[in-house]
Amino acid sequence: MESNHSNRTLASFYLGHARRSRLLMAHLLQVLLDTRNLEIPYTPALEKLLISAAFHHDLGKLAVPQYLLQKPGKLTAEEFEIVKSHTWLGEKLAGIYLHGSPEEQEVLRIVCRHHHERWDGKGYPDGLSGQEIPYPARLMAVVDVYDALTHERPYKPAYDSADARRILEAGTGTQFDPVVVQTFLGLINHDINRNLIPKGKTG
Ligand SMILES: [Fe+2]
Repeated sequence: MESNHSNRTLASFYLGHARRSRLLMAHLLQVLLDTRNLEIPYTPALEKLLISAAFHHDLGKLAVPQYLLQKPGKLTAEEFEIVKSHTWLGEKLAGIYLHGSPEEQEVLRIVCRHHHERWDGKGYPDGLSGQEIPYPARLMAVVDVYDALTHERPYKPAYDSADARRILEAGTGTQFDPVVVQTFLGLINHDINRNLIPKGKTG
């Protein structure tokens, strides 16, 4: 069956995700700061780096075959291994693609490589767990999954925000840093009704 997305370029398909991730990261940082839950010292420069990294977190997907990223069905184990490589490919591309400061490149490398790690150590590429996972990547994991859940992908429909919230809640302490995900859930419960963050259902 032909994918609904067959006429869309990889760049345009992921641009929306990148933009929404940037917006969600900005909101998450603000609420972590407001609730005194931010684990690292806040500076405006750090905020700028994290928001920029959120936009570029899937940079490595530019180096993964497009047909795999747009495959409508389930990936084979071999195909999934190739898709997983977007993490370390992004880390490598970060230094080439982004002519930023050393700090900017470092945060981007961390976010690209580790945004699919899981709190319980069952993620990839390195199987890091808990606070071994660099903090920027723990923030990115929550933002990334929420946006992926609430928007259509070639292999799945968009979930509504209530279902997405339930899935994030279920991932507390297994997939996600408990403090980060609970703070994020508080944010979306509050802000989604005020149209401050995307509701989903669009590409
Ligand atoms: Fe990713």
